[in-house]
Amino acid sequence: MAKEMKKIMITGSVGQIGSELTMALREKYGNDNVLATGHRTQPSPELRDSGPFEFINVSKRETIEEVVKKYNIDTIYHLSAILSGVGEKNPKLCWDVNMNGTYNILEAAIDNDMTRIFIPSSIAAFGPETPLDNTPQETILRPKTMYGVTKVAGELLCDYYVKRFGLDVRGCRYPGIISYETLPGGGTTDYAVAIYFEAVKYKNYTCFVREDTRLPMMYMPDCLKAALDLMEADSSRLKHYSDFNVTAMSFSAGELAAEIRKHIPEFVCEYEPDFRQEIADSWPNSLDDSAAREEWGWEPSYDLAAMTKDMLEVLSKRHQEGKLDYERTKSL
Ligand code: SER
Repeated sequence: MAKEMKKIMITGSVGQIGSELTMALREKYGNDNVLATGHRTQPSPELRDSGPFEFINVSKRETIEEVVKKYNIDTIYHLSAILSGVGEKNPKLCWDVNMNGTYNILEAAIDNDMTRIFIPSSIAAFGPETPLDNTPQETILRPKTMYGVTKVAGELLCDYYVKRFGLDVRGCRYPGIISYETLPGGGTTDYAVAIYFEAVKYKNYTCFVREDTRLPMMYMPDCLKAALDLMEADSSRLKHYSDFNVTAMSFSAGELAAEIRKHIPEFVCEYEPDFRQEIADSWPNSLDDSAAREEWGWEPSYDLAAMTKDMLEVLSKRHQEGKLDYERTKSL
């Protein structure tokens, strides 16, 4: 007998990952089977017109419950979160959205007999005491940001729900994600996205971390692939649940600028570190993602050169057509 169609809900669907993940899920599982949700920010016409959309507030349980029942949801991709930079400016909001939001999603999943939940973690789960290079799957998790605290607590809470209630919760520790559709909203790795937009539009960029700052990163197509593949993985092969290290590449800000200069030789990058330098310094240079490779066949497709070529092609075309919607912003 054919398996019943999944009824999927995404939180944070207006955000950087959520906006593209919604479209990927609609493509894969059917437009009407994927409910996009957001909090206040209006969805793009593409998101709004391709399938159902509702406003919720993940820190208010009743707003989740209402749409879960209305759409008969059995699978959730929980993407709404306050990122590291904004989290340091407003730690209370970060705790409320990230912690209460995750708890409410897990509780709604139990009460509504859901089959599978995706809740991503982040490299922000690591801290200055963690080994910096090729950071292992099992290691010291002592983050120094509120965002990181909520990510570690979120991983532990998810694993608790797996063991205690048999809920199928999965997630990976994403590195910095680079994309051209929706800009990230206030993270530490945002410079690796902004640099492309500014290189195309202004031919110069002032980076808020030092030139030698090295972090693990991933291009959006691989980020989407990680979520889709992990959620389709055979549960009998999984020894981990919500904390898989995943990575695609590692580069310093200077190496990123040099790669862009191969395409835009006149591009100039300057460096004026702000408060996010300390956060970046507390995160790994590179990750060991062998557990994800072994347990569910994780394999990224893009390296720095392939990603840069693609990003610049798309953004340059948009700029030439007068459609590059980007304005330089001041520090957070
Ligand atoms: N990209 C995120 C941030 O910088 C890390 O998960 O906050």
